Amino acid sequence: MCGIVGYIGNQDAKEILLKGLEKLEYRGYDSAGIAVKNEEAVHVFKEKGRIANLRNIVDETVAATMGIGHTRWATHGIPSKENSHPHQSTSGRFTLVHNGVIENYEQLKREYLSDVEFASDTDTEVVVQLIEKFVTEENLEVLEAFRKTLTLLQGSYAIAFLDESGSDTLYVAKNKSPLLVGLGDDFNVIASDAMAMLQVTDEYVEIMDKEIVLVTKDQVTIENLQGEPVKRPSYKAELDASDIEKGTYPFYMLKEIDEQPLVIRKIIQTYQDDQGQLTINPDIITTVNDADRIYIIAAGTSYHAGLVGKQLIETIAEIPVEVHIASEFGYNMPLLSKKPLFVFISQSGETADSRAVLVHVKELGYPTLTLTNVPGSTLSREADYTLLLHAGPEIAVASTKAYTAQIAVMSILAKVVADHKQKEVPFDLVQELGLVANAMEVLCDSKEILEIMSKEYFTDTPNAFFIGRGIDYYVCLEGSLKLKEISYIQAEGFAGGELKHGTIALIEDGTPIIAVATQASVNLSIRGNVKEVVSRGANPCIISMKGLDMDEDSFVIPEVHELLTPLVSVVPLQLLAYYAAIQRGCDVDKPRNLAKSVTVE
Ligand code: F6R
Repeated sequence: MCGIVGYIGNQDAKEILLKGLEKLEYRGYDSAGIAVKNEEAVHVFKEKGRIANLRNIVDETVAATMGIGHTRWATHGIPSKENSHPHQSTSGRFTLVHNGVIENYEQLKREYLSDVEFASDTDTEVVVQLIEKFVTEENLEVLEAFRKTLTLLQGSYAIAFLDESGSDTLYVAKNKSPLLVGLGDDFNVIASDAMAMLQVTDEYVEIMDKEIVLVTKDQVTIENLQGEPVKRPSYKAELDASDIEKGTYPFYMLKEIDEQPLVIRKIIQTYQDDQGQLTINPDIITTVNDADRIYIIAAGTSYHAGLVGKQLIETIAEIPVEVHIASEFGYNMPLLSKKPLFVFISQSGETADSRAVLVHVKELGYPTLTLTNVPGSTLSREADYTLLLHAGPEIAVASTKAYTAQIAVMSILAKVVADHKQKEVPFDLVQELGLVANAMEVLCDSKEILEIMSKEYFTDTPNAFFIGRGIDYYVCLEGSLKLKEISYIQAEGFAGGELKHGTIALIEDGTPIIAVATQASVNLSIRGNVKEVVSRGANPCIISMKGLDMDEDSFVIPEVHELLTPLVSVVPLQLLAYYAAIQRGCDVDKPRNLAKSVTVE
């Protein structure tokens, strides 16, 4: 949540910062701001809402070659111009942007800043006011004042600030929130995500928690909180600039839905050795095999992928799996098995709820594995092992291709572990995943019919229910999340048999019921559940799989292996949600109140 950029060099900082913020808008879009410094002063421009609003108010005549920028997902203080970053100290000397949450900000205000009049309701302002206080009242050098401030902060932060009366330097630090330094010739940058500054450089240096970084036009100095110098090599960000463009698509979400067949093929290819055998790091296989139980920890869509993963791992590799919502597990840990393995599933690799569990279970000494789309992300760095999703950057806030990639990678993990145990897997996973990719392609070519269906079921409806049994139920949870988050229709996923235990009371004339039927063992029972709601007036939409389809079905997906159906049945649900959001005039890629990377607990 929230995105930060900074630039110091010879070019026009405003445009580089604004372009960078546009690439970070997925991290929050409640407000945005930039501050640029030239010989005269620091100039701050900030506005509520999107970067486009900010662009409208930036004074084009201000020339400056250094500055910082921020796009906000509000936590402390409503989305407003006053609460937008950058924030300034009372004298205006220091100007700061921050991503994260300063948990002890009220205590710091009371103890150190009771005489300061605050201009915002944010936790962030405390940081910039503390720096000013230590400089003016304790005569500390700016760097020392920053260091002292950091030692007082509890919580998460990525911080960058400018000193109007000091040298041309970006002062930078982080703890738990992501931040990178980008290197160039005659310039340097900072960014929450390399994507933002790919416009000027692909060479980056990681910053670790509690390090302080001083960035000038031609130097980057890293030190730890004790002031000891730190040396770290740079790396090339493996991002293709075209991966982060929308191309001819109206929305990233549609592009990302369409990319799914390619992603599945890329995953097959990446996890195959020269002989065409699926393979993963042998240490991971040993770790999985040593576990008597796997605990999958995730949030939102990744949690839904975890539910499917449980089915895959238990069926194929015969290891018991529990799936837990990260934000619950942290506070309500179940009785663990004797040799647990913790698997974190996270597209971004930055989700604070999951990270809190990771930190805790590491302290307890348990082995950890992260499945993530973002190499070098916090969860990837901090877990013992990582399996990458290879889905390419996912920019739409609503996750699509990362979900299917997560399931595909878990199927490979299950298969490789089963092979290692010499347990026979009665199907060829590479071949079956190939069929999945083909089926996804067929579905991506069925947009017109899904658009018509979406109109039929979702125009004017206040709510919708998704029902399925077994693995189809898990897909229903994901289908309903997609619909509610981007179209704002209240939607819920239910186990087909559970509806009659209460929720059926909500069924009225015309209530849309989307039923997913891809499993032979429950095909008749889910259809029985559909009949129960139809006789109470519901408007049914049965999405079945070829071979199990019946005359009454609205949409039939191509046949794939029954364990892999979620990879395919989710595609029409993603597209139904997409078109529902379009019909309602919603901003598909940036749904209200949301952000892509949830870095607060
Ligand atoms: C929904 C969605 C979210 C994320 C959740 C976890 O479309 O994207 O529910 O799945 O916030 O995020 P990651 O996977 O980055 O940990």
